[in-house]
Amino acid sequence: MTTTATAPGKIILFGEHAVVYRRPALAVPVNDVQATATVSKLMAVPGEIQIEAPGIGLSSSLAALRADHPLAAAIKGTLSALSISRPPACTVHVESTIPVAAGLGSGAAVSVAIIRALSGFLGNPLPDEKVNSLAFEVERIHHGTPSGIDNTVVCYGKPVYFVKGMPLEFVRIGWPFVVVIGDTGIPSPTKDTVGDVRRAWDSNPEKLEKIFNQIAIVVQEARQAIECGNISALGPLMDENHSMLQELGVSSLELDRLTAAARGSGAQGAKLSGGGRGGNMIALVDMADADRVAQALKSSGARRTTICRIG
Ligand code: PMV
Repeated sequence: MTTTATAPGKIILFGEHAVVYRRPALAVPVNDVQATATVSKLMAVPGEIQIEAPGIGLSSSLAALRADHPLAAAIKGTLSALSISRPPACTVHVESTIPVAAGLGSGAAVSVAIIRALSGFLGNPLPDEKVNSLAFEVERIHHGTPSGIDNTVVCYGKPVYFVKGMPLEFVRIGWPFVVVIGDTGIPSPTKDTVGDVRRAWDSNPEKLEKIFNQIAIVVQEARQAIECGNISALGPLMDENHSMLQELGVSSLELDRLTAAARGSGAQGAKLSGGGRGGNMIALVDMADADRVAQALKSSGARRTTICRIG
């Protein structure tokens, strides 16, 4: 018996970092990249769980992993949610095409895929709300103080308007649009940039609160533009949001170079996406310009580009 589940990657369109401080943010799933978990029966003593994640060179029994290892935490969280202390022996195999530590939600997607596949294998598929809250617990290991936006958008697989601690709202895409994702190729743990913003907030809360409020206004305007299909308004809003993230100190030479290259080759706007410093940037483009912008990003040092249609 085998059970498989997948979960998409994600990008944050607007509002990263401010979302940790209870401002709104907009995020969408990226189905071009996926995490997949497959759980299969193993002929062994009940309770034995083997984890195979060849992409990160992991082949281990659950018992041999530290409790705070994210894959172990996803499995243990699922077992405890189902009150199962001695599951049938099984192998949990994880594959992912989502780049790690790049702002594409790889950790959240792996957790969601594992929780869904394992709970399905155990005959009790957990509802989305529970999958989401278990994945959030694992995110806390990756991020320290995550807002919860990554696990939420990845779990529901739909565009979201997210405010920490508030009921989730889905966003209707009034008119489809295209973004090019450019990967700096520089891994940048979100925990580090979130920690740096926290230190900046500690030393000058007024300044940071002001920037967060400005970001919140941009997010509201972007939501309205997306829902009304007013796509031409989105480019300038991306540029504004990027400037605010620069002020927060989470951009970098590489991200600034890529966003400038995107604008210079015809993108309507561009910003970093996710934790910043490294990871990804996004550029809003007309479909006709997408290849040219992607090429310009590569010429300016992007390790990889993805053209992504939203909606
Ligand atoms: O996981 P990333 O790198 O896409 O970043 C998550 C977005 C942050 O706002 C920086 C952190 C958070 O928990 O919301």
